[in-house]
Amino acid sequence: VPPQGRLGLVDILIRLKRNPLECWSEDFFRDPICKLRLPFLDAFLVHEPQAIKRVLMDNAKNYPKDAIQRRILSSGLADGLLSVEGERWEIQRRALAPLFARRTVNSFTRAMLTAADELVVKWSKLGATTIDVAAEMTLITLRVLTLTIFSDGIGGDLGEFSSAMTAYFDVVGRIGALDLLGVPTFVPRPGHGRLRRTMAYFEGIIDRIVQMRHERLAREEAPDDLLTLLLKALDPSTGQRLDSTEIRSNILTFLSAGHETTANTLTWSFFLLSQSPEWRARVREEAERELSSPDGLADRLVVARAVVEEALRLYPPIAALSRSALERDLLGDVKVGRRSLIVIAPYVLHRHRAIWDRPNVFDPSRFLPEARSTIPRFTYLPFGIGPRTCIGSSFALQEATIILAVLIRNFDMRLSADADVWPVQRITLRTAKGLPMRISRRERP
Ligand code: HEM
Repeated sequence: VPPQGRLGLVDILIRLKRNPLECWSEDFFRDPICKLRLPFLDAFLVHEPQAIKRVLMDNAKNYPKDAIQRRILSSGLADGLLSVEGERWEIQRRALAPLFARRTVNSFTRAMLTAADELVVKWSKLGATTIDVAAEMTLITLRVLTLTIFSDGIGGDLGEFSSAMTAYFDVVGRIGALDLLGVPTFVPRPGHGRLRRTMAYFEGIIDRIVQMRHERLAREEAPDDLLTLLLKALDPSTGQRLDSTEIRSNILTFLSAGHETTANTLTWSFFLLSQSPEWRARVREEAERELSSPDGLADRLVVARAVVEEALRLYPPIAALSRSALERDLLGDVKVGRRSLIVIAPYVLHRHRAIWDRPNVFDPSRFLPEARSTIPRFTYLPFGIGPRTCIGSSFALQEATIILAVLIRNFDMRLSADADVWPVQRITLRTAKGLPMRISRRERP
């Protein structure tokens, strides 16, 4: 329940640290643009489609990612597509586009099905039991990434790798919260040492894998996966390739940008389905019919996909996007000064009362093919929009749709009686305490 009226500064600071989601007050869900005076800068919360279009698309050059966001993304990701700006970003974006093109993503259907089938085998061995579905989704999305990036394995323990990833997100989220509070950068952040150790661990593993892959490429026996495509990636306009730091940074970027985000999407989808017998039955019926053949699978799973898209509306993993104004600008009739912080929060936009009918109700029919095309542009932005839009959106949607369909087909999944589910915003929007569910294998005809 959003707080009524504007919060005082101290209240904002406490909430930012505890759970930034608690800062979105009632008027943000009602007004098109809200202005906040923070101690060091003006901030504008922009939830009006034409103003969003101006910030993220038409005048995007005036609105680079803000310093706080870049600092959160620094360590390890600094030279990857998510963080770079200017000419290097343009070169990288063009060079990396083929890695996430429709045809390439389609070719990953088998890897996604393999990961889902492995999970079916693992869960089937457990018998009827209660598990933390959120933790399982974190593992399976990492499994899909490792199968598609390094199809010949990471040469190490995936469980350890996954725990390190989760720890990384946790500590980066806490450091980011201190930045938002305006704590000067020379003040040491608790967790910085841990962050450095975690990064060193990832970099060690990745450098070893890249080295081995170069050797296989030289022998012309490299598999067709994202790593091979990345090492061969070339910007068609300039003929430039990525250097070795950019390659390492982008592997880490794909791993971190595609891991928790997709895991959370699945977790929220299972949570929402646990509240809706009708949509559970519809997803299952579709899965029974369509899962028999992998060809064009993601396009045929329209109900599962609508559930995933509705989960992304209600619980967008990237709950807020932020930008900083380089020069003064006008958003509608609102004057924005230089260095203002612009926040466009999909979490708010997707539940905005001026935009959505019954905004807080789970209704995947909004995203069934006929209705989907009537959703106005700039009102649904789980993947952002404009030049910096998510490069992995088709990958993520295809993956989540397939995994959802396979698991719903094979298991009865009920929310555990003592489950206490609510969203917290760290870097991504997650459930505060995992997602305990009682699962049991279905007898299939
Ligand atoms: C950018 C969301 C999955 C890689 C973004 C942005 C959003 C987003 C909102 C734009 C950020 C901004 O404009 O400030 C998501 C969500 C995902 C997801 C919700 C899952 C449901 C993935 C996957 C990958 C990926 C699977 C790659 C394997 C990236 C990259 C960028 C990006 C590299 C930066 C693009 C650029 O700046 O040119 N993502 N993402 N994401 N995402 Fe995703």
